[in-house]
Amino acid sequence: MRISTGIEGLNELVDGGFLAERVYLVSGPPGSGKTTFGMQFLTHGAALGEVGLYATLLESPQNIIDDMSNYTMNLSILMKMQKLFFLNLGPKMDYGFADELYDFLTPRHEVVRTTAEGAPPSPAVVFKEIEKYVSEHNVKRLVIDSVSAIRFTTSDPSLEEKEINRLIRNLKGLGCTTILLSEMIDPNSYTTEQFASHGLIFLHNFLNKKTMTRALQIVKIRGVKHDCNMRGIQFHEGGIKVVDYLD
Ligand SMILES: Nc1ncnc2c1ncn2[C@@H]1O[C@H](COP(=O)(O)OP(=O)(O)OP(=O)(O)O)[C@@H](O)[C@H]1O
Ligand SMILES: [Mg+2]
Repeated sequence: MRISTGIEGLNELVDGGFLAERVYLVSGPPGSGKTTFGMQFLTHGAALGEVGLYATLLESPQNIIDDMSNYTMNLSILMKMQKLFFLNLGPKMDYGFADELYDFLTPRHEVVRTTAEGAPPSPAVVFKEIEKYVSEHNVKRLVIDSVSAIRFTTSDPSLEEKEINRLIRNLKGLGCTTILLSEMIDPNSYTTEQFASHGLIFLHNFLNKKTMTRALQIVKIRGVKHDCNMRGIQFHEGGIKVVDYLD
């Protein structure tokens, strides 16, 4: 089954829409439109009666709501109608006792934070929380912002790959269509989650002769004949729209 993406001009490039109940990764640098893309996908579905869940690991739900309310996506109405929900999965922001202890005990160069209250959540914690919410509210569209903020094992790359694949397999089993947002750190190398997802879309944001150019590129969608070219995108009052040219 195909579902409409909600991004103006995108359905035509993906043979009519996203395949339902699959996991898509939308990857881009800061400010490239990841949150906007995810929220457009959810609010479009919510307006059609499909319940949407925005799980946030970095920003607080209130910050996301404030920023996205500048678009004409009817966020507050859809929330009141219980068609759009937010789930806060971020680490606790206030400094607790464990943080003080952690700073005291751990040398600066050790990256993995396991004990501090502010540590990012593990894939298992993220999945369990989402799974509960999805079944309680019959969620059909899910956005996770962002997969880069989940604490995968850092010491063993092969274990990290397994954990990412496991999370994606489990998300596929939830029965909703999922968009994972991720930070694009290096546009010249692919990450494990980019390989593991069923679909991959890049959002680009780059300087072209002193002019900021924004673009979207569909890298892969398994089982679908899709457009592969770099397409221009514009931000407007409704969010992002795909245009045929690059500014
Ligand atoms: N109402 C609006 N109208 C037009 N453009 C907007 C509007 N609101 C935001 N923008 C543009 O969208 C950009 C941010 O988009 P968004 O928050 O979706 O990006 P992001 O990739 O999620 O960023 P981050 O990496 O910080 O999470 C802003 O920098 C701004 O250029
Ligand atoms: Mg964002």
